[in-house]
Amino acid sequence: MKVVFLPGDGIGPEVVAEARKVLVAVVPDLEASEHLIGFDALAQDGDALPPVTLAACEEADGVLLGAVGSGDYSWSTSNPEDGMFSLRRALDVYANVRPFRTAEIDLLIVRELVGGLYFGERGTRADGTVYDTCEYRPDQVDRVLRRGFELARSRRGKLTSVDKANVLATSRMWRERALALAADYPDVELDHLLVDTAAMRLVQAPESFDVIVTENTFGDILSDIAAALSGGLGLAASASLGDSGPGLFEPVHGTAPDIAGQGIANPTAAIRSVAMLLEHGLDLPDQAARLEAALDRAATTVRTRDQGGSASTAELGDAVVAALDADPSKEPADA
Ligand code: NAD
Ligand code: IPM
Ligand code: MN
Repeated sequence: MKVVFLPGDGIGPEVVAEARKVLVAVVPDLEASEHLIGFDALAQDGDALPPVTLAACEEADGVLLGAVGSGDYSWSTSNPEDGMFSLRRALDVYANVRPFRTAEIDLLIVRELVGGLYFGERGTRADGTVYDTCEYRPDQVDRVLRRGFELARSRRGKLTSVDKANVLATSRMWRERALALAADYPDVELDHLLVDTAAMRLVQAPESFDVIVTENTFGDILSDIAAALSGGLGLAASASLGDSGPGLFEPVHGTAPDIAGQGIANPTAAIRSVAMLLEHGLDLPDQAARLEAALDRAATTVRTRDQGGSASTAELGDAVVAALDADPSKEPADA
């Protein structure tokens, strides 16, 4: 099993080190490699996603990314985040699945990841006007909507499609496609919400949602709201999945420049992303569940600063490994 680690910038390397430690504890014969993406890649190669990094990712069973974006790159026409956009696009991981869970909330956001405003034409006109365009093809919309329907079917059977159909042409097409596809999923209850209302309802009644499916920009914003409601960005993981080929697994958070280099970032989001990699990338759902359980046990006593404690990033990673070792359901290595 081949996994590529892309630590990236800021707290990325700090949380990926713990994620790697934990993954090796679960899958000791892992074939792991580490590659550059983001600022260091840009500084070293002039390319935020060097060809060697992309080639390694394409051959892997899964890719674990920390975060990218920080540093002074004013000398470059590109930025560290471009490396991540290129990687998402190259792997065609169009469905970014972001689970949020507390005692009351059990919500999944499915965010379209390789289209919309992020990838539309942008530019500057002679008069100084600057523009970004939002475009979607019907097939791009259908495939992520289908992913939403399928995930809803495997859970509580409720799918909320979020758009801005009262204003945007892309949203009107999104809603039409959702209505058309619903015929194929009679066991899923579909409803539609405008994105502003969805934001309000997320804050007021997060427990009323099962699966939310939405376009790229709306999904980005709604997922930080959902993170804030469920323990903060330090906990929120994601899996970016295509139809075939490796998935890209990454925390929802960024490089956290305000705490980078101090060893205090919460590695939980990265470790939960490892659990998603075990489930979706390596097809080891039992090991994913075992890791989630170990993380829950470790987190009851070892808390980083964002969770009101004083543990370091590495102390939480070590506690998760210790909880895995103490797991009574663990199979002996020579079984
Ligand atoms: P951020 O997510 O990096 O940080 C927001 C806040 O959350 C900060 O106060 C930070 O300290 C806190 N935080 C985030 N992760 C944490 C963790 N694991 N433990 C404890 N606290 C944590 O968002 P930002 O500051 O707006 O962005 C910083 C940079 O990160 C930007 O360049 C942005 O483009 C980039 N970014 C990258 C990704 C990614 O690579 N997937 C995602 C989001 C933002
Ligand atoms: C995320 C991040 C990125 C995004 C940024 C860093 C461009 O916020 O993965 O949620 O908007 O996709
Ligand atoms: Mn985001």
